[in-house]
Amino acid sequence: MQARYVLRIGAVFALAAGTSAATASATPAQHPPNYVKQATATGTGGAVASAEFNASKAGIETLRSGGNAIDAAVAVASTLGVTEPFVAGAGGGGYMVIYLAKTKQVVTIDGREMCAAACTPNLFLDPATGKPLAFEDARRSGLSVGVPGMVATWDKAVKAYGRKSLGSNLKPAIEVADHGFTVTPNFVDQEKEALADLQTFTSSRKLFLTKDGQPLPAGSTLRNPDLAHTYSEIAKHGASYLYGGPLGNDIARAVTHPPVWSGSTFNVRPGLMTAQDVANYVAKTRQPTHVNYRGLDVYGMPPSSSGGTTTGEALNILNGWNLSGESRAEATFHYLEASRLAFADRNAYVGDSDYQPVPVQGLLDPAFAATRRCLVGNKALTSPVAPGIPFAPYGTCPTSKTAANPVHEGTQTNHLVVADKWGNVVSYTNTIEQVAGSGITVPGRGFLLNNEMTDFDFAPATPSTYDPNLPAPGKRPRSSMSPTIVLKAGAPDFTLGSPGGATIITTVLQTLINHVDFGMSLPQALAAPRVSQRNNAKADAEPAFLSTDLAKVLTSQYGEQFAAKTGPVLPADSFIGNATGIDFLPGGRFQAAAEPVRSGGGSALVVNPQ
Ligand code: GLY
Repeated sequence: MQARYVLRIGAVFALAAGTSAATASATPAQHPPNYVKQATATGTGGAVASAEFNASKAGIETLRSGGNAIDAAVAVASTLGVTEPFVAGAGGGGYMVIYLAKTKQVVTIDGREMCAAACTPNLFLDPATGKPLAFEDARRSGLSVGVPGMVATWDKAVKAYGRKSLGSNLKPAIEVADHGFTVTPNFVDQEKEALADLQTFTSSRKLFLTKDGQPLPAGSTLRNPDLAHTYSEIAKHGASYLYGGPLGNDIARAVTHPPVWSGSTFNVRPGLMTAQDVANYVAKTRQPTHVNYRGLDVYGMPPSSSGGTTTGEALNILNGWNLSGESRAEATFHYLEASRLAFADRNAYVGDSDYQPVPVQGLLDPAFAATRRCLVGNKALTSPVAPGIPFAPYGTCPTSKTAANPVHEGTQTNHLVVADKWGNVVSYTNTIEQVAGSGITVPGRGFLLNNEMTDFDFAPATPSTYDPNLPAPGKRPRSSMSPTIVLKAGAPDFTLGSPGGATIITTVLQTLINHVDFGMSLPQALAAPRVSQRNNAKADAEPAFLSTDLAKVLTSQYGEQFAAKTGPVLPADSFIGNATGIDFLPGGRFQAAAEPVRSGGGSALVVNPQ
């Protein structure tokens, strides 16, 4: 095998120290031909926005060569598995919301990871103490890994709605994995954030770190021949190469026998997944959630994600106020309180609906929203607020006595959007959960495994508290992913989504009201400073929000409290969600919008730029 990464002299990025394993070359580092690092693109023929240029380019190439939005979404997602391996890839899962122009239908695919058949509610309890494991002990283990749903989603989407084959849609990703891509400062930041996790496993050290076990130098070129081979085998044999095939065997083996580095002292617990669990996985078609907001039809992802029900409930609460006629402070106060209340209901009622009934109808009923809105006066409510009672007939402002369950809120994910010339739209959020997931790379396969099972609650708030989100055999943990498509008079108006764990929901909500109520363009709405209230005493806020007069008025006049968003390692963690979206402009034009700054900025492209 050739050197995985090559350090180019005169690289476009500042080079990191400690690169003894690098193979130097005299060629200056280059971005791919036609590299256009732009956050907004306007034009015709189709559009893509994602977190990374090579991935967006793969989508545009697929559209140009006759693929539709569904094909292009698979091309983008599989390429992100190469260039953004710490937040995407074949070892993860996600949710795809699709608008089909021909039938004017919105459909969804639930490709969420699944717990093994041997899972029990005690999955994350320490057998010695009966107490929940510390998060990192649970995460950096085989226990946290769910059966990946990503390839099953791609296969299902392409077979049902694509114009090309899965194999053809994987070609751009295979090429990038084979030829390599430039390691960006954001890539290095993610390696720093997950360094201890990557260092723990031999396969991850080999693929992603220098021979001294340090982050790769920014500006070097990283090749991933193992992943090129894995994708090529999937292209040749289909998804059954993973589900019921040799790749599934390798995944189960890595989970039950994690490749722990001999120098590690970390207690890595093996997982429960069998090859049969992998073979049993099915990506599920589900009915989208739907609410009407200011005359627009807003479609989202139903359980196992809480995204559609929580954004939908908050929008229903907000429908009772005329935000565009209020001061910005009052409108933002209403946004924060609607989100606080919707999160109380999410945490009490939403889990995998194949395992217990989830009151989706009640949560999305405008009459139920009225019973939540009536709790809001002129001052911030005190969190944790109790859940409401989403079962008709609804009382007047009733609250249940249920205690709030503990919630882990992962931070990393990615969102991509695609639209094609036929009018199809894809909004696709996918992830491996934390940065670098479980930290385990499947040996010889070129991709990391998720830690999505830590999105389950480890234990209920009290032994008698109803908790819809405990582990069970074959169950999917509750997600916050909120891929959203908005129609106006039956045609696409805009689409959006975001990474960011539970802040995904508030990012989608805030961006949506920025655009619909405050009249911002979609790029402006995505770029605006964020604040996220999730039924906590203090709302997380970006530095750019905290420094505004708006934040001061919300504190002094409305009693809102804010905390600066921080992360475990990096200053970049003060950001909330590098979202993406597409606005459908008059005259058949698209405006693709990626993040301009957060996480190094994303990439928006259109087929025919104007
Ligand atoms: N792992 C983050 C989410 O599913 O919301």
